[in-house]
Amino acid sequence: MTPTDLFNPDHYVDVRLPLVEASTLPPWCYTNPDFYQREVEQIFLKHWNFAGRVDQLPNTGDFMTLNFFGESVILVRGKDNAIRAFANVCRHRSARLLEGQGNCRTIVCPYHSWVYGLDGGLLRMKGMEGTSNFDPKENSLRELRAEIWAGFIFVTFDSDMSPLDEYLGDLPEQFKSYQFASMKCVRQKRYDLECNWKLYIENAMEDYHTATVHRGSIGNQDCVPVTTHGQWNTIHLQAASTIAVLPEDNTSLPHIDGLHGLTAEGTYFSVIYPSTFFATHQDCMWWLQLLPHAVDRTTVVIGSCFPESTIQRPDFEFEVNKYYRRWDKALSEDNAVSERQQKGLSSTMSRPGRLSAYEPGVHWIANWVLDRVLTPNEP
Ligand code: FES
Ligand SMILES: [Fe+2]
Repeated sequence: MTPTDLFNPDHYVDVRLPLVEASTLPPWCYTNPDFYQREVEQIFLKHWNFAGRVDQLPNTGDFMTLNFFGESVILVRGKDNAIRAFANVCRHRSARLLEGQGNCRTIVCPYHSWVYGLDGGLLRMKGMEGTSNFDPKENSLRELRAEIWAGFIFVTFDSDMSPLDEYLGDLPEQFKSYQFASMKCVRQKRYDLECNWKLYIENAMEDYHTATVHRGSIGNQDCVPVTTHGQWNTIHLQAASTIAVLPEDNTSLPHIDGLHGLTAEGTYFSVIYPSTFFATHQDCMWWLQLLPHAVDRTTVVIGSCFPESTIQRPDFEFEVNKYYRRWDKALSEDNAVSERQQKGLSSTMSRPGRLSAYEPGVHWIANWVLDRVLTPNEP
């Protein structure tokens, strides 16, 4: 069933065909640990990964830790107000330094109390006086590249990766009128799922399932692909007003000032490769951050952002519950179907399936992944 030469392009010829002739990725791409390991090496460790929002770390010393594909990373706001990313590994004997999120004046290792500053520099290391040729300056925390676009923090493990604005291509320009920089994340919720990360992002990027999976909630959606440049793709759903609340709910929250063109006329559903999803509406945006842990384990974090001016409104507290209701309902439906699909894919009887014309997003993602795992040197 699963071939021994997993990365031989001959196995993927049908995935490479145009959408209406194409098949899905073979089942082993979602179940085989070696395929997943190649994705970690060629995709996650080499590309920009969405890490969070700057407004989640408003004060000096605010930190959060993230677990990406087995790597733990600290994001912390320094005294100079800059947000930095560090490997969550002590430079002495590699103990994990921080867990969860919080605020700290320094980063103190829980093992032998080496103390690091918020800029990663080693400040104190009691007991090292007798060690010869020990230079604290050479023992700072290992810093990762972190760059920010419109309040969204991205991290890469690859020092040679192109700058974030090049990576994002025309996304910042196409979405400029949403003014993401003046938004604030009002809620985050996480789900630990038993499914491959690609299943979840594929699901988020296709509307074919909506009439079935979401028939009791958001209902059918009919999206159109929009041309993009850079490491992202998008589809657009025409709608006179926000679809971030359930169809039976009306909201009094206002549209974002200055939207025009397609941003004013509906919702964009976008994938920022490899594993971030943005839904951008006339009144708010939400993201899905997929943190893979194993071939069949993924943490999904949903974050919800509104303009500051909307959050200040007296009706916000009441109205936002309608949005939460919609996100909780639709996500629990997507979570269940993704785990169910993983179960089916794990069967020895699973085979590649044919795609519908309504699934360009699934085809984009499959081919984006193959471009990187089958040709290791492609940027
Ligand atoms: S492992 Fe961190 S101080 Fe020893
Ligand atoms: Fe869905």
